[in-house]
Amino acid sequence: MTRGSSFRPSSFPMHNLELACSESDVTEAGTSTAGAPVLAAKDVSKAFGSLVVLEGVDLAITRGEAIGIVGPNGAGKTTLFNVLSGAYPPSGGTVEYDGNDVTNLGAAERCRLGIARSHQVPRPFGGMTVFENLHVAAAVGARRSGPDAQVLCLDSLELCGMLQVSNRRADTLGLLDRKRLEMARALATDPQILLLDEIGGGLTDAEALELVGIIREILARGITVVWIEHIVHVLLQVVQRLVCMESGRIIADGDPLAVMKDPAVIEAYLGSVSV
Ligand SMILES: Nc1ncnc2c1ncn2[C@@H]1O[C@H](COP(=O)(O)OP(=O)(O)O)[C@@H](O)[C@H]1O
Ligand SMILES: [Mg+2]
Repeated sequence: MTRGSSFRPSSFPMHNLELACSESDVTEAGTSTAGAPVLAAKDVSKAFGSLVVLEGVDLAITRGEAIGIVGPNGAGKTTLFNVLSGAYPPSGGTVEYDGNDVTNLGAAERCRLGIARSHQVPRPFGGMTVFENLHVAAAVGARRSGPDAQVLCLDSLELCGMLQVSNRRADTLGLLDRKRLEMARALATDPQILLLDEIGGGLTDAEALELVGIIREILARGITVVWIEHIVHVLLQVVQRLVCMESGRIIADGDPLAVMKDPAVIEAYLGSVSV
């Protein structure tokens, strides 16, 4: 495996990939602390000015798990991903990766360590082909170059069913392919954990089910998956654990069916019923 690729054209909007290129002082995934969660939020809070968006969030994610996150709009789900991936620093609390405190690392460094995420609204480099999008991710996120990068890109394309469109410009893709590209691009960073933010959003049930097959294959490769999704019956085909958020807090966490029957979860979705 090649590390430290020099492929980093200066014209690319790097913020879009949330990647960086400096060596990290944090232990690489292969030398993890035994038994530690792969990723954990500890008493995490986040406020934007006076607006408190996350409060007292504790979430320990075990390696190999498939976790679903549900909750009403505005519950703080995407913000939690932003804090876990390093896009936003938390206002309080810590984030640990493989037993190491990564709270002060930015998104780019966390991506290098193995934390990948997709965005609720796909954010490809529209003027580049699908393959070029992946190549940037492999080069910058996984420090791959040459044949090593190509193998990783082709593998990610194949896994996401995108080989046929690899030479298409990203801005010509339909929504399902843009969603696939979000996943393929994240996979091309060679992650340990994948945070999927409403990857099924805007798709038909049949299209979302296509993504389920891809996510199952990702899990079979040992990559941990945390998936925010509103299409619960699709989510439940993959996850063994369900977390429900409301108003910046985790209100239920555990067996998916038990969580769905939890009165607090039902109330969060439906509001209290008064007669
Ligand atoms: N960058 C930001 N600046 C200010 N408010 C934000 C920002 N990001 C999210 N919020 C607010 O945080 C709350 C939670 O948003 P979000 O995490 O996107 O919720 P969800 O993904 O559960 O729908 C919302 O009220 C949203 O408007
Ligand atoms: Mg969201």
